[in-house]
Amino acid sequence: MDYHRVFTQAIDRLHAEGRYRVFIDILRNKGSFPNARCFAGHNGPKPITVWCSNDYLAMGQHPKVIAAMEDALHDVGAGSGGTRNIGGNTHYHVDLEAELADLHDKEGALIFTSGYVSNDATLSTLAKILPGCVVFSDELNHASMIAGIRNSGCEKQVFRHNDLEHLEELLAAADPDVPKLIAFESVYSMDGDVAPIHAICDLADKYNALTYLDEVHAVGMYGARGGGISERDDAAHRLTIIEGTLGKAFGVMGGYIAADQMIIDVIRSYAPGFIFTTSLSPVLVAGVLAAVRHLKQSSEERDGQQAAAQCLKDMFADAGLPVMPSTTHIVPLMVGDPIRAKKISDILLAEYGVYVQPINYPTVPRGLERLRFTPGPSHTEEMMRELTGALVEIWGRLELRKAA
Ligand SMILES: Cc1ncc(COP(=O)(O)O)c(C=O)c1O
Repeated sequence: MDYHRVFTQAIDRLHAEGRYRVFIDILRNKGSFPNARCFAGHNGPKPITVWCSNDYLAMGQHPKVIAAMEDALHDVGAGSGGTRNIGGNTHYHVDLEAELADLHDKEGALIFTSGYVSNDATLSTLAKILPGCVVFSDELNHASMIAGIRNSGCEKQVFRHNDLEHLEELLAAADPDVPKLIAFESVYSMDGDVAPIHAICDLADKYNALTYLDEVHAVGMYGARGGGISERDDAAHRLTIIEGTLGKAFGVMGGYIAADQMIIDVIRSYAPGFIFTTSLSPVLVAGVLAAVRHLKQSSEERDGQQAAAQCLKDMFADAGLPVMPSTTHIVPLMVGDPIRAKKISDILLAEYGVYVQPINYPTVPRGLERLRFTPGPSHTEEMMRELTGALVEIWGRLELRKAA
């Protein structure tokens, strides 16, 4: 076997399809997000504006979060020193789980090292423990949910995106006696659309299925206390498990689930992805605690984000740019071609100091490549005007299709 040739061919395929990933080398400027410095191909760092961060509310820069992390670092040191079972169960972890359970009005919560791990570990464990379980999965579910379902080894039925009729068809066709789990997201982060949570819960009630909702792109940002779309729509009590990340709107790192104590106990006791890994650093957990507590009582960041998203959508639409019909804080601009999407992104960075990463297959289907903007409370109208002007110029230069 010519290993080198196989690896080279694999990378060459990505280049040929225009979807070889280039990581942009940046440092964010503490206290003045979305301003940052870029180190790619320049003499020294060049100032840029970040438009694709998932630190949606800039909580990773919030003075309370930074102070909490500094205090924790000086109080207890850097790492946790072990798994949750063996030495790594710090008081910060216990407090954060109580805070997250309260956020979603559930009996308990469990923290993982990332949102990806929460989905993989929970879904694989849950569906394995329920004998003969069938998982009904939205076709646009995130890779981590797909991995968890696959790793459970259970039967999977994929329903068309947010299609209640299709979901019901599949539920009705399944054996009424087998355990069922419906897995879906609240905010789908590439299109910015939202799941009909109550209607899915109605079907779950009718066919006696459990429900698993990924709120990764909604926690912190929706609901009066940041409990996500399930809080906004008053549906949290109807969901079996709510999953979220601590790395996006909460600004730090980690993931979690919230559910009844019995389910938390099962996952805590059986999920390898929870058991056999060093727990999150208490410094990170202290930062998340500050962010969750702050966002429970402050809507200023949420309101600022919604206003910024609406403003950018309006500016793009007024300029004739092909902005997609998102109903949330996500502002996707359709390009429909991976090479062009990369080209636009490269010009924006090199000539305008604008950083937005192109989104290509497999994150989105082929032919639906796009730029995905995530304006937050710290993006000013002036920044949005400059961005819109830059895009209009590039659209003209590359002779790209404008909105119909
Ligand atoms: C829908 C969804 N779920 C889970 C994850 C994973 O979360 P994390 O980044 O905390 O691993 C992501 C990451 O982007 C996501 O988009």
